[in-house]
Amino acid sequence: MSMYVLGIHVGHDSNVALVKDGIVVADIAEERLRGVKHFSETPSLGLEWCLREAGISMEDVDIIAVVSLDTLNSQPYFVKTLGLDKERLNPKHAYIEPPTYIKSYQISKGTELVHVDHHLAHAASAYFTSGYNDKCLIITADGIGDSVSLAVWRGEDGGIEPLMKVGAEGSLGWFYGAVTEALGWWVGDGEGKTMGLAPYGNTKGMEGIFDSIIPHYENGRLIKGHNFGDPCYWQSGGSFHWHLRDSEYVKGLVDKYGRENIAAEAQWALEEEMLKIILPWLEREGVNKFCCSGGVFLNIKLNQRVWESKRLDHQHIFPNAGDGGLGVGAALYAYYHTTSEEGIKPISHIYWGPAYLNHEIEEILKARNIPHRFCDDISLKCAQLLAAGKILGWFQGRMESGPRALGNRSILIDPRKAENKDIINKRVKFREPFRPFCPSLPLEAADKYLENWRMERYMITSFNGKEETRGEIPAVVHVDKTLRPQIVERSENEKFWSLLTEFGELTGTPVLLNTSFNIKGEPIVCSPRDAIRCFYDTGMDYLALGDFLISKDGRC
Ligand SMILES: [Fe+2]
Repeated sequence: MSMYVLGIHVGHDSNVALVKDGIVVADIAEERLRGVKHFSETPSLGLEWCLREAGISMEDVDIIAVVSLDTLNSQPYFVKTLGLDKERLNPKHAYIEPPTYIKSYQISKGTELVHVDHHLAHAASAYFTSGYNDKCLIITADGIGDSVSLAVWRGEDGGIEPLMKVGAEGSLGWFYGAVTEALGWWVGDGEGKTMGLAPYGNTKGMEGIFDSIIPHYENGRLIKGHNFGDPCYWQSGGSFHWHLRDSEYVKGLVDKYGRENIAAEAQWALEEEMLKIILPWLEREGVNKFCCSGGVFLNIKLNQRVWESKRLDHQHIFPNAGDGGLGVGAALYAYYHTTSEEGIKPISHIYWGPAYLNHEIEEILKARNIPHRFCDDISLKCAQLLAAGKILGWFQGRMESGPRALGNRSILIDPRKAENKDIINKRVKFREPFRPFCPSLPLEAADKYLENWRMERYMITSFNGKEETRGEIPAVVHVDKTLRPQIVERSENEKFWSLLTEFGELTGTPVLLNTSFNIKGEPIVCSPRDAIRCFYDTGMDYLALGDFLISKDGRC
């Protein structure tokens, strides 16, 4: 009989994952089903979808792994959704009665309910997807989670052992968050913008400007913490926003030194402090395999610096490194903790979200009276459109988990013209001009464009672009000459691989600019309806929905 484990995170990026016999079979962030970015309340739609996707009911679930020690005490609406019986119910929630139309799952007495600490869930998401079966170092780092901001772990023989934990006073995530807030962006969302802005700045003459607000590490340990105060949680439209008081101090620095330079110095300072943690612990543990997760490791430039330290043979960054990956981590932890499973299986994709069949898509298109055409070879047809300079929405198969579009919910354009970056920004994404776009390319072409590369499927790290080919794809080379690639294997995404390959045959350049299928400020689209709305609300030219093609002028 199969063993099912549900992993549930309630908080910033609420999500639910379902693991069957150690394999992730479903995973979804609630934001994708609600249309609210970083949705932070009970992920009840995700819960329902995961069960439906696997064709099971709550009675079939062996373990529910809830992230955070405090969730069952602090989240009464979530507790009521689970429908816990009286013996397992915190008395303080007894007074809340949901309306009768809110689904209550009434979990069975046989279902085990376990808590998984926030950073342990991050560590598990990295370790139990790595495929590393000998000793490795695991580091988790974020703003804060269960009172921990950074933790060091040893992964060995299928177990995770804590080696060091640091509280709020050592939070490099909050340091970077305060800079992000000072630059005018959402903490827990806008850090990628700070990172994208950094290469436009210069750190000359700025050494030490953050000394009073950044935690300092030496030889792997915190030597000088910082009192960040209590961050203010601001609930807005279903998501959390934070205010970090240091942002006010940083705002003064922004006025003095300029936005780009502040971003550059913050990026440099973050990388330096993280290296002072990671490298000594690699030495201490005597390992060259490194796994990591937590929101700080969404920083792809940091990940590149770690790789370029030449200290690693293997680096596994869990691609959904923020809190959106906690459900997967908790479920995998509970599974491996309970079973005598031998061997950790590596993941080779994160297409764990909903898929829609052609007949479902056709029904939706017909109901809305949208002209469409079925294509026998959608990849070839779309490659031709892209080669002709069109902007294409590409919606195929199961939605990707995590913050990056990986060829199933993507907006694509030819990267050979530098101005295509601005065209995408102006017509589709409506986002800041300094932010880089990522390339997708088939594995067979990786060596042509990437320096000192390794297999990376998830746009979670950057590599230097090869000097001789950088000029061929200017729209996806950042100002610092790096690329953040998705390397596509045929076996993992045949349709997208074919699109890239056919575009290469037509143009001589098997690379596409690939950005997530959404508008700035909104989650990545999940359903065909979401995609259609986004298509008609932006300047995209064509939309490939499964094997159907739609154009703005109705002539496909
Ligand atoms: Fe976290």
